[in-house]
Amino acid sequence: MRLENKVAIITGACGGIGLAIVAKFVAEGAKVLAADLDQAATEKLAEQYDGQVKGFAVDVTDYAQVEAMVEMAVTHFGTVDVVINNAGVAIAKMLLDHDPAQDFDMITGVNQKGVYHGILAAGRKFRALGKPGVILNTSSIYGQMAAEMTFTYNVSKAAVDMMTKCAALELAPHNIRVAAVAPGRVDTPMLRQYEAMGLWEHIRREQMRNEFTQPGEIADVFAFLASAESNCINGTTVFADDGFLNFKYPLLPPA
Ligand SMILES: NC(=O)c1ccc[n+]([C@@H]2O[C@H](COP(=O)([O-])OP(=O)(O)OC[C@H]3O[C@@H](n4cnc5c(N)ncnc54)[C@H](O)[C@@H]3O)[C@@H](O)[C@H]2O)c1
Repeated sequence: MRLENKVAIITGACGGIGLAIVAKFVAEGAKVLAADLDQAATEKLAEQYDGQVKGFAVDVTDYAQVEAMVEMAVTHFGTVDVVINNAGVAIAKMLLDHDPAQDFDMITGVNQKGVYHGILAAGRKFRALGKPGVILNTSSIYGQMAAEMTFTYNVSKAAVDMMTKCAALELAPHNIRVAAVAPGRVDTPMLRQYEAMGLWEHIRREQMRNEFTQPGEIADVFAFLASAESNCINGTTVFADDGFLNFKYPLLPPA
């Protein structure tokens, strides 16, 4: 098992990708602090993986809560080795319909500041423990490309890519590795917003193989990046997008 005796913290643990990461990490032998806004859901998760998972309610927009989350992993499991800043929100809204009093701050507060909080709290804890650590952030293909209705989301994910680079550089002397995963289109509650908008079939056709990535496939990438097998992957974003960024919308209908 790749992650035997490792302790990992996962934020957004009760969402589509988060649940899959928890399952994968437990299967690979890790102990997991499953953190999410929804306390009842984190407790349910802990019951499901009796002993290997502890639930923790956190709002990643609040630094004090993120620091308490990292502290809880150490108190409960004795240490921490991996922190995954995965919590994210996306709301489809055209730019000119934005309410500048709230829309920008709401998305960047979770996707950008939340990741910043996670990097900071994890980096400080690894330094205090005097041990190597791994910090992984969930980015997106939208950090690299423009899209309609997701202006702030794309801005926040571009920031995740840059925070990943800058943090890796500053944390390297402390033996802390930082990387990001940029999923393409993954079938989770977040993506299902497109279904409610009648765009599900359209976005499926945009996929090179006409199918969405499954959360478990993204979890496999996280498990690899958390393990010693990926020791030379640092300060970069790994694109788990089934080629989305490299190919145009297919001209021909699927065979
Ligand atoms: N689904 C996709 O196609 C896709 C593609 C690229 C990137 N991503 C990214 O993957 C990550 C996980 O997304 P998902 O698809 O599983 O979405 P999801 O909506 O299923 O899960 C997101 C989780 O984050 C939690 N969360 C939201 N705000 C929070 C906060 N302030 N503090 C703590 N937890 C909070 C939610 O409660 C939820 O459980 C996100 O960062 C998202 O941007 C998703």
